[in-house]
Amino acid sequence: MATDRSEKKLMIWIFLGAPGAGKGTQAERLRGDFGFVQISTGEMLREAIRAGTELGKSVQGYVTRGELVPDDLMAAVLQERLAQGNTGNGVILDGFPRTVRQAEMLEEILARHCWQLCGVVYLDTSEEVILQRLGGRRICPRCGANYHVVTMPPKVEGRCDRCGAELVVRPDDAPEAVRKRLEVYRKQTEPLVTFYSQRGLLERINASGEAEEVYQAVKAAVARRWQRCLAGG
Ligand code: AP5
Repeated sequence: MATDRSEKKLMIWIFLGAPGAGKGTQAERLRGDFGFVQISTGEMLREAIRAGTELGKSVQGYVTRGELVPDDLMAAVLQERLAQGNTGNGVILDGFPRTVRQAEMLEEILARHCWQLCGVVYLDTSEEVILQRLGGRRICPRCGANYHVVTMPPKVEGRCDRCGAELVVRPDDAPEAVRKRLEVYRKQTEPLVTFYSQRGLLERINASGEAEEVYQAVKAAVARRWQRCLAGG
């Protein structure tokens, strides 16, 4: 396989966890403190759907039903985004990989570019917490900002703090789609916990607490791993 060693070494972080575990919430905080760039594959797909692009049309059914988009398509979407640059001090992959096949494809991409996977932050929480979080989530259809009616309400009820648009329920937060997403997660994504644990890359974080408490644990784990990564370990 051809490698390109002339590129800047890119450091990659993976955020892994069930739907509603808090991947997006925590990744957003982390990127501010560490100068990382967050790549949310779910948000990329939702944007494509909103914009009515070819990609959006081809993935809309999968996303609304709570099923996974096919691996090859997702890997192509990710590669295209990484090829655009704008990767800050490193990249947080929020929502990729989601299957063992995607994890293997990511390993191939990293090897080809001599990029380094620094760690996998696994946000571990119970189904009860997940259902509470997804049940109260509201999103901004214009800018993608994320809220929760109880734990992270907007300043003005029903309106986005950033752009003022009216908040909506994410279509895949409907009860039937949530059931499907949890089933898909258990079958197809949870095996990645073992996959990355065996590679010594997993940081298991108890994600059931308040967002700030969870964030302190995430930040400490990432800071520790980052030093190791910078030292070339
Ligand atoms: P994606 O957008 O990635 O959805 P997901 O993995 O189901 O994750 P969520 O966005 O629902 O949850 P989260 O963990 O980010 O939690 P959040 O921080 O928002 O993917 C959507 C779809 O796209 C997939 O179903 C699939 O179809 C497709 N897709 C995407 N990537 C793919 C891939 N690689 N392969 C194939 N298909 C792919 O938090 C949830 C709520 O809880 C929020 O309201 C938040 O405010 C609140 N909250 C968060 N943390 C806390 C806390 N600690 N305390 C209290 N409230 C909290």
